[in-house]
Amino acid sequence: MDKLFIKDIDVRKKRVMVRTDYNVPLDEDGNIADDTRIRATLPTINYLLDEDAKVIIVSHLGRPEGKLNPKYSLKPVARRLQGFLKERANVVMADDCIGPKIKKQIEEMRCGDVIVLENLRFYPGEEKNDPSFAKELANLCDVFIQDAFGNCHRKHASMIGIDGFVPSAAGFLLKKEIDYLEKAVNNPMRPVVALLGGAKVSDKIKIIENLSKKMDKILIGGAMAFTFLKAQGFGVGQSIVENSMLDVVRNLMDISKRNGTKLYLPVDFVVAEKFDRHAETKVVPFQEIPENWIALDIGPATTKLFAEALQDAKTILWNGPMGAFEFDAFSRGTYAMVDVVTSSHASTIVGGGDTDMAFHKSGKTHEVSFISTGGGAFLKLLEGGNLPGVASLLDKKT
Ligand code: 3PG
Repeated sequence: MDKLFIKDIDVRKKRVMVRTDYNVPLDEDGNIADDTRIRATLPTINYLLDEDAKVIIVSHLGRPEGKLNPKYSLKPVARRLQGFLKERANVVMADDCIGPKIKKQIEEMRCGDVIVLENLRFYPGEEKNDPSFAKELANLCDVFIQDAFGNCHRKHASMIGIDGFVPSAAGFLLKKEIDYLEKAVNNPMRPVVALLGGAKVSDKIKIIENLSKKMDKILIGGAMAFTFLKAQGFGVGQSIVENSMLDVVRNLMDISKRNGTKLYLPVDFVVAEKFDRHAETKVVPFQEIPENWIALDIGPATTKLFAEALQDAKTILWNGPMGAFEFDAFSRGTYAMVDVVTSSHASTIVGGGDTDMAFHKSGKTHEVSFISTGGGAFLKLLEGGNLPGVASLLDKKT
């Protein structure tokens, strides 16, 4: 990474603000359903505690649209963080994120303690990247550490605005994400194979285009595959198709061919009479999807084909489920690919909310090399795009 890293900057006994992405999923009772994003920031926080810094955590949670909304308070997050840090540091929850009261609270904090400021998105200035809001945040600290990889595609005050007012560097999580993902996309161990799923080609088109120039093989699963099949003249029954994307898909197939990237499409599917968890299902070859049926998962012959295509891979990049995996009846393809990927000796990099969830549900998160904490930010990197939250950090001196 060519940006200043936390270890390149003096943080000892300083007031250090850490921008985290604690936008964690909450259940109906407001409890944290998955604390991966909190755990992922512990290396940065522990490093700062070792340096006896005053650790000031900032984050957003949800989309409160610039208004105070207790539903999106970071209080449960602060409690969970205290649980992780135990006796190591005292975690205090502030009731705001800017203003004289918060400034005083930080002044009175002891070095080696942690304060979690309240949700940045309670102020409209955060999402509008209002310079006065960014300056108010900057006034609370001596050093700013960016560790919110999952939010780095957003041009918000705490993502790009604050860097203009205070020295800024990347935290451990941000560096790890960028190092893993940039290597996998731009300088991978070969053969490198991308496994792409999800419902819409339109959501993934830039990714497929970029990866068509960089991967050795691309395996397409999920409902996206039907637009590819229809573009080649096959019938797909009632399965999801984006008719407006048929020419785009033909063009993508040409780009892959020109670049020598082999595209693999499913050869069989699990089809159902209707999109219902209790519907009657059967497995059919890809050319035989019945007119009134809908295909909702890849079939066993496809799993075998994809497993063979992945066999010699040294790097595997996976985004997007293989079918409607929220229903058990259509989840087999996705979980079969989880097994294939986790038994591979390749460097395996996984990202995107649904794909992460499949690994969490199968209890196999520790069997991949890296699971990204990013959703939109991860996709942006796969597209070959720049992340504003990274670009605005100070460059490493060469
Ligand atoms: C995410 O979860 O992808 C980030 O926290 C960004 O959240 P947003 O989509 O609400 O901006």
